[in-house]
Amino acid sequence: MDRPVLIAPSLLAADFLHLAEAVELVNQSEADWLHLDIMDGMFVPNISFGMPVVESVARLCHKPMDVHLMIVQPERYIDVFHQLGVHHLILHYEASVHLHRYVEYIHQLGMQAGVALNPHTPVNVLKDIVHLIDIVLIMSVNPGFGGQAFIPHSLHKIREAKELILKTGSAAKIEVDGGVDLQNAAQIIQAGADVLVAGSNVFRAADPARAIHLLKHVL
Ligand code: DX5
Ligand code: ZN
Repeated sequence: MDRPVLIAPSLLAADFLHLAEAVELVNQSEADWLHLDIMDGMFVPNISFGMPVVESVARLCHKPMDVHLMIVQPERYIDVFHQLGVHHLILHYEASVHLHRYVEYIHQLGMQAGVALNPHTPVNVLKDIVHLIDIVLIMSVNPGFGGQAFIPHSLHKIREAKELILKTGSAAKIEVDGGVDLQNAAQIIQAGADVLVAGSNVFRAADPARAIHLLKHVL
């Protein structure tokens, strides 16, 4: 494999009675980032966890925290997440009408900026911002819940995102989120993904560290 694939376990699938163990497991594993899903019950039908949890996780986590904001007007919370010490802030294209302004602001604060696309949102809406962002997050399920099946059409979107990135000279990484498992990971990487988010397939595995290892070396 010429480029290493990065693995970002999603804490959403961990046992919330034992979050410290889950974070320690990620610290000790071959995982590259820790993915944190923030849901508000408005942008998505579900509510996950918020600032107090992220604050506690931040005290223990040694890996970059990759925060996926599934909330309306995500710009309202850029400062708060910066103060909590997160490394990447990912806003949904569908949730913010001034992405350009907020991507610049996230950068000014010294964080990496990502833009996420719902399954129905075409990749080409990123054409005038892709050169400015660090992460393109392709949602391969409808956001809101862990444990859903990978939407096969996402593979076309990953290829389109890769083309757009190459054409525009963008340095953005392609992150794929939802339904990633050992059966589809190779195809997803071959389509152009740089980062795999995996919730259920890591934290519901008998041996999560091994699940991370297997995903990381699937090719
Ligand atoms: C879904 C979240 C995902 C979720 C992935 O809205 O954005 O990050 O945790 O979970 P799995 O890997 O179980 O599909
Ligand atoms: Zn996510």
